[in-house]
Amino acid sequence: MCGIVGYSGFRRASEVIIESLKRLEYRGYDSAGMAVINHGITVEKKRGYVSMLKGEMEGRTGIGHTRWATHGEPSDKNAHPFTGCTGEFAIVHNGIIENYMELRKDLVKKGHKYASDTDSEVIVHLLEEGYAEHKDFKKAFFEMIGRLRGSFAIVAVHRGENRIMAVKKESPLIVGIGEEENFLASDIPAFLSYTNRVVIMEDGEVCELDPDGISFYDFQGNERKKKTEYVDWTPESAEKSGYEHFMLKEIFEQPLAIENTMHTLFSNDIDLPYYGRITIVACGTSYNAGITGKYLLEKLLGIPVDVYYASEYRLRPEVRERSLVIFITQSGETADTLVAAKIARKRGYETVGITNILGSSITHHVDHVIYTSAGPEIGVAATKTFTAQLAALYYLGAALGEKYGILSQMKCDEIIDEFRRVPRLIEKSLDYEGTIKKIAQKIMNSENMFYLGRGMNYPIAMEGALKMKEISYIHAEAYPAGELKHGPLALLKEGVPVVAIVTRDETYDKMLSNIREVSARGATVIAISPETEIENYVDYRIPVPKNSAMFSPFGNTVAVQLLAYHTAKLRGCEIDKPRNLAKSVTVE
Ligand code: G6P
Repeated sequence: MCGIVGYSGFRRASEVIIESLKRLEYRGYDSAGMAVINHGITVEKKRGYVSMLKGEMEGRTGIGHTRWATHGEPSDKNAHPFTGCTGEFAIVHNGIIENYMELRKDLVKKGHKYASDTDSEVIVHLLEEGYAEHKDFKKAFFEMIGRLRGSFAIVAVHRGENRIMAVKKESPLIVGIGEEENFLASDIPAFLSYTNRVVIMEDGEVCELDPDGISFYDFQGNERKKKTEYVDWTPESAEKSGYEHFMLKEIFEQPLAIENTMHTLFSNDIDLPYYGRITIVACGTSYNAGITGKYLLEKLLGIPVDVYYASEYRLRPEVRERSLVIFITQSGETADTLVAAKIARKRGYETVGITNILGSSITHHVDHVIYTSAGPEIGVAATKTFTAQLAALYYLGAALGEKYGILSQMKCDEIIDEFRRVPRLIEKSLDYEGTIKKIAQKIMNSENMFYLGRGMNYPIAMEGALKMKEISYIHAEAYPAGELKHGPLALLKEGVPVVAIVTRDETYDKMLSNIREVSARGATVIAISPETEIENYVDYRIPVPKNSAMFSPFGNTVAVQLLAYHTAKLRGCEIDKPRNLAKSVTVE
């Protein structure tokens, strides 16, 4: 899981590369590097953030990389780019070369010397081999591809040329088209300040690019025509725009993210056949969206919904059931989710992908795609993409309810009316940031926390605990409040913060008794609730706006996100780039 870029044009390549890599740091940030073509190839690479690169080199063509270590520890020598034995080529790679051991052995026998412990380095040695034979960069590049097994996005340059060769197989790669300059990157925000004209490369495609032109080929070298797309993201959408962190900006962008997602949902027909059962598969935050979807879809459609972690779904034996399988992945690139999608398809299920990224890998492995339009999310901890996924699931519930004849027209209209008010609901919830900041001061020194919810707000408690763990490093666990007495209560002692999500529905009274249980053991209880009455039972209340129970997850999500953010900030944590985590995990 890494970010890669390539540039060829009229600007100083090192500056473009550093700027682009900074926008890709969410994909990995344990080392960074670049290679620029000038009199030869100048390389700068280091363990650490992109900001450690000086980029003081001349040259108009170059490549760059920001790494999240898989093979080989984070270190200067394992940082990309790699330049091989002759220094005639430089390459950057995102993905995994599965047969690198055998390739490496073979190349070492031929006299190649390795400078790193990575799987990626074999690529540059293979290029050298091919070039020695053909004296042609392009031929050597195609030959190299033929030897690789695994997943890869590779960008390569050759001394003395302003041409870049690139290939995509199961790792993302996008081309940006400018005027007398062209770009390559793992994700669009990398070059968004230069162009919004993009070509999305598909698996099995090769790209040859210089400042004046771009050609695409399949792996056999046959030319391919590709469609240019225009993205409506603005350069500011990939900037912090005055916010201290991307995460905070993205939390505050949620009303807009939902509005844009609604627009996308309303303007596309959702035509999914009835199977009488739904299975949802996802990882991380997307999994929490999936569990919320389960409560919601079972309620609206009255059909069973199962939710699996993608890494577990693949272990599931083939069972006799007819089910529509929905994969939720904001990036569309999570390796476990992609593998699960391939398995589901092979087993003959009809599949749907919910993703935020146009043309991402998941879109190639499912029968139907539903896009969310949250805009680029840079903070590693997902926020606006989560609520956008919820929006997609709510809309799906209403649309399928109507299509399957399960919900009356009136009920559907009611749901959609309320759905349209979600952006306002989120705006109002954001108003309580001040209260949340004060509560964060009270809990910032805690070592353990609990989050409780029931029904549809249990997954929101899960999401709250996940956010808290990810960015503040406080150990936080979520439980369905009823489970408390079956174990976790033993862990409660004086002052342990317990966040309870309390909604006015059939769970209300039970939540109140659970709150009493934890208060009696000395816990510090923080209620997220529109009910003033709750203040009699708890230490603090985050007064989310009054709303129907069904739509309460939106406002409650904002509260748990802000609580995690402000706690992490007070603890001085690296909010946008939490230790050991990456935004999309492209390894299984
Ligand atoms: C990583 C990220 C999480 C994300 C998860 C699933 O773990 O750090 O924020 O929820 O991947 O990502 P996806 O792109 O599949 O939704």
